[in-house]
Amino acid sequence: MRLILIGPPGVGKGTQARLLAEHFGIPQVATGDMLRANLRDGTKLGRQAQSYMNKGQLVPDDVILAMVEARLREPDTAAGFILDGFPRTVPQGVGLTVILERLDVTLDAIVAISVKQDVILTRLAARRTCARCGAVYNLVINPPKTMGVCEACGGTELIQRDDDRPETIKKRFDVYREQTFPLLAYYRPTGLLREVAGEGTVDEIFNNILAALPEKLGQG
Ligand code: AP5
Repeated sequence: MRLILIGPPGVGKGTQARLLAEHFGIPQVATGDMLRANLRDGTKLGRQAQSYMNKGQLVPDDVILAMVEARLREPDTAAGFILDGFPRTVPQGVGLTVILERLDVTLDAIVAISVKQDVILTRLAARRTCARCGAVYNLVINPPKTMGVCEACGGTELIQRDDDRPETIKKRFDVYREQTFPLLAYYRPTGLLREVAGEGTVDEIFNNILAALPEKLGQG
């Protein structure tokens, strides 16, 4: 199963990618998470990406494509993967097509999730992320069992992401409209694009995604 999740900032890509990864027993490949892990580890890539991320801009395509190709060459992706937050420009989509040809594999589906912007803003206001391991919480639907303590690693710093400030969120929405939305037109002719409404509970949306997948995949 090789799947792409596309959607605006905060639409729930990461939430659904984690569920799909567990359901299908394949890894979630989330470029935002990979960049934030590099940032936490103080790598050269992390330092390079930081200024773009903090401004709500995209990290350059060549940097992202090299990072993703290296990840997709790791053995755990042999049975498939969920791409979360990648590709997000048409050149990244073209680059991915080339990478998949080199790896001699094909995509099964591209799922585009959409939600009204005011709903997203409410969700993002309540998102908290563990500064140590990157685990994601939501103060409304998924708070940590002990307030302020990460269940995954025991970290005690649950923060709002730097790019979740209102002015940066606005920039991220603009970037989505200008640079990522055109990917839907790029993928539509493949016949693999599925458009799914992202409003409702996490479980409802998960079931909508499964129902939208090609029949041979939807049952998992
Ligand atoms: P990235 O981390 O990919 O950010 P994003 O695309 O803006 O998406 P988010 O992580 O904000 O949201 P999400 O859709 O995953 O939603 P989530 O599930 O967390 O990228 C960050 C930055 O890195 C980019 O701006 C860019 O600079 C750089 N970057 C990354 N990839 C790149 C690339 N390919 N090329 C270039 N640059 C790149 O949900 C949000 C909240 O809502 C959570 O609290 C969640 O619990 C809650 N929630 C989820 N579902 C529901 C629901 N059904 N009901 C209520 N709440 C819900």
